[in-house]
Amino acid sequence: MVHLEVHPNPESAAQALAAFLTGRLERADRSTGRSTISLCGGSTPARLYEIAGRSWRDQPWSRRLQIYWGDERFVPPTSAQSNYRLAAETLLAGGWFDPTHVHPVPTQSSPTPDFAAQEYEAVLHTSFPARSSTLDVALMGIGPDGHTASLFPGQPSLREPTRWALPVPNSPLPPLVARVTLTLPFLNRSRTVVVFATGAEKASIVRQALAPVCEGESPLPVTRVQGTEETIWFLDAVAAGAVPR
Ligand code: 6PG
Repeated sequence: MVHLEVHPNPESAAQALAAFLTGRLERADRSTGRSTISLCGGSTPARLYEIAGRSWRDQPWSRRLQIYWGDERFVPPTSAQSNYRLAAETLLAGGWFDPTHVHPVPTQSSPTPDFAAQEYEAVLHTSFPARSSTLDVALMGIGPDGHTASLFPGQPSLREPTRWALPVPNSPLPPLVARVTLTLPFLNRSRTVVVFATGAEKASIVRQALAPVCEGESPLPVTRVQGTEETIWFLDAVAAGAVPR
C-alpha cells in the first residue's frame, strides 16, 4: 500500500520530508540505539539535504545515525556527478556526524564497478548482520523512465535474487557512467521506503508509477521498492498533478 504526501511546492515538500525523516530516525534510535538511512542522488534532494543537515546537527541521535547510498556513479567523490559529493556539500556540511558512520560507495579505492559493488556489499552485511531487516529509511528518487537508485527498466539488476549491491556497467540515462546500485533484495528489507519527487517534469512518470497495474508487475523499477512497514511518496503539487485522486 503506497501512501501519498502532497505539498504545495518543492520547498514545503522538502521541509515536510525533512521533518518526517527526523521523526522516523529519532524513533529508530530510541528503539534500537541507532538509526540507518540510504540517500538518493540526483538533483531533487539537494534542498532536502540542506534542511535536514541544519536540523540534525544539534540532535543527540544524529551522532549515532548510519548513512549509506542507494546508488553511486562510478566517479571520484570529488566529481560533480558524485552522489556522495551532493550529500557532502549539503546534508553533511558542518561535520555534525560521526565520520565512521558515513558509508560512501568506495569508488575511489576500487578498480572497477564490480569490485566496488562487492566491497559495498561486504559493508552492508557487516552493518546489517541479521539480514532479515536492513535500513530504517530508504530514500529513493525517480527518474524520467521510472528508474530508482540505478535500477533501470529491463536491466538484469531488477531480477537479482540475492545480492545486495550490483555494478551497473551501462546507464541508459545521463550521466552515462557506470554505477553501483543497491538491489531490491536489500532495499525491500527497509522498514520505511520514501520516494521523493518534485516538479512538472516528473508528473507523467509519477502518474504511470502510481497507476494500478492490470496484471503482473509494473515494468517501472520504482514501483518495485516497497518498505516492510510503509512506502510513502512525498510529492509537490505539480509532480502529483496527473495522479487521479
Ligand atoms: C542517481 C539517482 C537517481 C535519481 C533519479 C532522479 O544516481 O541518478 O540516485 O536514482 O534519484 O535519477 O534524479 P533527479 O532528482 O535529478 O531527477
